[in-house]
Amino acid sequence: MKFRKFLAAGAGAALAFSLAACSGGGAGSTSDSSASGDDGAMMEEGGTIGVAMPTQTSSRWIADGDAVKSGLEEQGFDVDLQYAADDIPTQSQQIDNMITNGVKALIIAAIDGTALSSQLQAAADAGIPVISYDRLIRDSENVDFYVTFDNYNVGVQQATSLLVGLGILEADGTTETGEEGPFNVELFAGSLDDNNAHFFWAGAIDTLQPYIDSGVLVVPSGQTDIEQAATLRWQQETAQKRMEDLLTGNYVGTDEKVNGVLSPYDGLSRGIITALQNNGYSGTVADGFPVVTGQDAEVESVKLIVDGVQYATIFKDTRKLAEQAVVAATAYLNGEEPEANDTETYDNGVKVVPSYLLESDIVYADNVQELLIDSGYWTQEQVDKGVA
Ligand code: BGC
Repeated sequence: MKFRKFLAAGAGAALAFSLAACSGGGAGSTSDSSASGDDGAMMEEGGTIGVAMPTQTSSRWIADGDAVKSGLEEQGFDVDLQYAADDIPTQSQQIDNMITNGVKALIIAAIDGTALSSQLQAAADAGIPVISYDRLIRDSENVDFYVTFDNYNVGVQQATSLLVGLGILEADGTTETGEEGPFNVELFAGSLDDNNAHFFWAGAIDTLQPYIDSGVLVVPSGQTDIEQAATLRWQQETAQKRMEDLLTGNYVGTDEKVNGVLSPYDGLSRGIITALQNNGYSGTVADGFPVVTGQDAEVESVKLIVDGVQYATIFKDTRKLAEQAVVAATAYLNGEEPEANDTETYDNGVKVVPSYLLESDIVYADNVQELLIDSGYWTQEQVDKGVA
């Protein structure tokens, strides 16, 4: 697997251009030629696009599904949006049905990135373009495009927020404070069948390893391999159970306390926080509650951040990701290739999939307002209540 830093130069301009280019005529119109001057490429008439999402148990994927659906509808398409309750056979069947029903394109956030080869072959045989949404579909040549974030950098940001929370790095995320610890930390990873989990882990571990090597960070459980840290299907309950086991096995009955937990997703973070609270940890990070990281800026966790209980999360603006998926689908149906800004990083085992990568931000209590509320991602009321 290859990891690479993403350069965003020009990405915003490219997005603005492509949206402008495809918003003029809408899907039903063939009268407006695109701004590129390609008069030969005619937008196909409407039709249905299949959108396969993994689960509704996480507010992130609901936001994704809603944003992709409305973006496609604005372009004049019908949308068949399906959620699969994190069940692999269900998702395979949903995609089979979409193909049978003659969708014009598929946008898929896979549950298991390796489980869709036969569906993708059927899509290719029917000439249906496939866009891999946020999670890379692996082991198939029939993935046309990938829209996602710079997932390695998301892992770097998660680890950075842990180091800032522990006081090892200044708030700028780069300057060392000289704090020598030692701090006890435990590490969590996502679901191993999700390609992203490996990128998040690699970014995080590359960032934390020097501090583990120097003894500033200690992992009392010794569980430092991704296989040991993994959380199948990203389940909150699984993370809660593992955190409880880690506490029982390594802390309860000793003088050791947990100082920080690397968590790659807000749902896991909430399970970890519950386990800590069930074991006598209380109050806020300012009072000594462990520094717990996250990802997705789910509103339940944003409230916990404002309350000082969860320390940080990573904001990946799903509105922008959805926009890119719409741009890519529209390009294919217009007889064009979507514009990639990365053609090196995402090798799915068979080929390097051309990708459009977006950037993410670290959310701390003091920038919730700017990043999440001022941008309209969540309202003040949603954050106050912790409910979408
Ligand atoms: C996504 C994350 C999300 C996780 C769990 C990953 O593929 O990139 O944003 O937290 O799945 O749903």
